[in-house]
Amino acid sequence: GAAVEVDISAVKPGEKLTVEWRGKPVWIVRRTPEQLEALKKNDPQLADPASARTAYPTPEYAKNPARSIKPEYLVVVGICSHLGCSPSDKFVAGPQPSLPDDWSGGFLCPCHGSTFDLAGRVFKNKPAPDNLEVPPHMYLSDTKLLIG
Ligand code: FES
Repeated sequence: GAAVEVDISAVKPGEKLTVEWRGKPVWIVRRTPEQLEALKKNDPQLADPASARTAYPTPEYAKNPARSIKPEYLVVVGICSHLGCSPSDKFVAGPQPSLPDDWSGGFLCPCHGSTFDLAGRVFKNKPAPDNLEVPPHMYLSDTKLLIG
């Protein structure tokens, strides 16, 4: 089938693993407690903080503050919801070019400047209309993930 099994045992806190699923990059980001805590302050700046939109649905199991099954692990398709570029990692917090001064980590799309937080949620007033897609997935064990 089209499902992909991924061993996530080597991903350390603050790291990202990219795998391919149906020809798309899927990112698995292991978030630190600080990164998870910092997500909370972003809500007022986001276009769809609760992932409530139905046009581009987030699975029920990811409709939570961390947008994930296990808070530590973000699993998203690494394709911008604007015109399909692949955003870059901007995990380092603090002032950086093209990012807000209070940036707490996430992703920046190089094509037209859309920004996403570390839950893949898009910031307001950016060309990308939607949060990054959460692909269907489940855990087979503590270290094995099934995508698709
Ligand atoms: Fe990402 Fe346009 S494709 S901002």
